[in-house]
Amino acid sequence: MKILVLNGPNINMLGIREPGLYGAESYETLCGMIRSHCAARGIEVELFQSNHEGALVDRIQEAYGNTDGIVFNPAAYTHTSIALLDVLKAVRIPTVEVHISDVSKREDFRQVSFVRQACIATVAGHGLQGYLEAVDLLAAHCGRQDNG
Ligand code: DQA
Repeated sequence: MKILVLNGPNINMLGIREPGLYGAESYETLCGMIRSHCAARGIEVELFQSNHEGALVDRIQEAYGNTDGIVFNPAAYTHTSIALLDVLKAVRIPTVEVHISDVSKREDFRQVSFVRQACIATVAGHGLQGYLEAVDLLAAHCGRQDNG
């Protein structure tokens, strides 16, 4: 099983940006956590972060035909991007939406998620651990599909 973990704008600033909301750990720490979680489960993983909407669209297009699942924190583009919704619908790769913070308890503008309708699940408010939960959700989902 091969998955892609995609992060949107400002996730590379973890540990620096609003630590009260997003925690003290860096993006590199997050990548290390995900890599060891996947390695322990025999899951091949690629990580990609960009501050640019089009680069995220390009990376999802590249995943077409060679990736079993996507863990996706679109960050601020969650609340604005129809292009990211459309590309997820185009490639039809099972995707779990992740947010470090509990967006459901934050500002009104964070209550909208365009990508959500193309995702099999959402994990929000579980900190960095949420990415690992999303990996497990994808593994369970893909396992069920393999078993018919
Ligand atoms: C976020 C929540 C978004 O509203 C915000 O724009 C982010 C991070 C989260 O992980 O909690 O950049 O996606």
